[in-house]
Amino acid sequence: MDSIIVKGGDNRLVGEVRIEGAKNAVLPLLAATILADQGQTVLTNVPILSDVFTMNNVVRGLDIEVGFDEAANTVRVDASGEIGSKAPYKYVNQMRASIVVLGPILARNGHAIVSMPGGCTIGSRPIDLHLKGLEAMGATITQKAGNIEACADKLKGATIYMDFPSVGATQNLMMAATLAEGTTVIENAAREPEIVDLAILLNKMGAQIKGAGTETLVIKGVDKLHGAEHQVVQDRIEAGTFMVAAAMTGGNVLVKDAVWEHNRPLISKMLEMGVSVTEEDAGIRIQSDVSRLKPVMVKTLPHPGFPTDMQAQFTALMAVAKGESTMIETVFENRFQHLEEMRRMDVHSEIMRDTAIITGGTPLQGAKVMSTDLRASAALILTGLVAEGETLVGKLTHLDRGYYKFHEKLAALGADIKRVDSEEYDG
Ligand code: UD1
Repeated sequence: MDSIIVKGGDNRLVGEVRIEGAKNAVLPLLAATILADQGQTVLTNVPILSDVFTMNNVVRGLDIEVGFDEAANTVRVDASGEIGSKAPYKYVNQMRASIVVLGPILARNGHAIVSMPGGCTIGSRPIDLHLKGLEAMGATITQKAGNIEACADKLKGATIYMDFPSVGATQNLMMAATLAEGTTVIENAAREPEIVDLAILLNKMGAQIKGAGTETLVIKGVDKLHGAEHQVVQDRIEAGTFMVAAAMTGGNVLVKDAVWEHNRPLISKMLEMGVSVTEEDAGIRIQSDVSRLKPVMVKTLPHPGFPTDMQAQFTALMAVAKGESTMIETVFENRFQHLEEMRRMDVHSEIMRDTAIITGGTPLQGAKVMSTDLRASAALILTGLVAEGETLVGKLTHLDRGYYKFHEKLAALGADIKRVDSEEYDG
């Protein structure tokens, strides 16, 4: 299995980096293509990531034609004709986000069977909001033998209040509602840019959705949807990761195509720390002087709050700012595993339930560490950039789910980093 080796110390990042289309946008967009029973749907700016291959396979498993032209970053989907109702376990189990096919399959076929995502049970990693919303629209849901089965001859519009603005549940319900009879109102809906991107595609396909990006979505059901063409929005989390990398290394980097508005919560915290963040025509420029960085307090929240998907990377930035910073994680439980790994690199942290206190500005040491999840893997690599000596980050399957050529992009900015087959590496 591959590992990344970073030689720390002098890794001031300088130059320009280009951002891909957003993983978290393209996965629900691919699910949306299931709804079009006429014509092709063409998605451009599609990132080449293992999660995208997995979602393509989930859709193919429904007897839908999916072609991925990687050289052109374009996916073409033809979902016309009869399609299957069962999303196969072998792909769904690889990726929790596959659950977003439940709403579209049900809306299109009146019947859907989807394996429990990621092999986890509803109790420990809930999808209750997805299911409650579909039930409110008239679906009957049963769970047996590791599958979720949903039936409804015709979904009916409903007013649904979500206890928490879940991104995936908002996407699932929004897609189901496009073909329901009557109007659906989703209150306390998620407001992430990826929700807006999905609504844009669905409206191009003939849906009638209003309010995307606000807390109330109004979806007037239509009889049919057709194929459409759409460019995937830029990845704000990949952009944010490079912004943090530049700031940590005292660099000067233009993150091309990064969208200011989408990264507002991150930018505000970087400015508070003393990082220079400026908007240019081509993207966002980061300049920083590490010796002047100040500690901050950050709390993760649903959008437009600080994104939980930037939490791990931001703790790496906190580790280089002299003084005590606080990170409060309110979206996911147990999302501080990277801090346990970072201890091997002498990052000082104290964790009390949802709060981590990070004492930054002390010398960091390279070490062998393991990625515990996608964003943790990026955070460990960033820490390796500034730690003395060599850091080896293993279990890159996590990294490949969400970052395209991460080490090559960092190397092009001047980092001393390479990817190796661990079996061959005896360091
Ligand atoms: C999406 C993102 C993920 C990001 C997360 C929060 C994709 C593919 N993934 O995940 O990268 O970290 O948003 O910004 O877009 N919850 C419930 N019941 C539910 C659903 C969720 O209690 O039915 C809880 C979850 O346990 C979690 C919180 O809500 O604590 C947020 O989850 P959610 O917004 O649903 O995240 P995802 O859509 O899974």
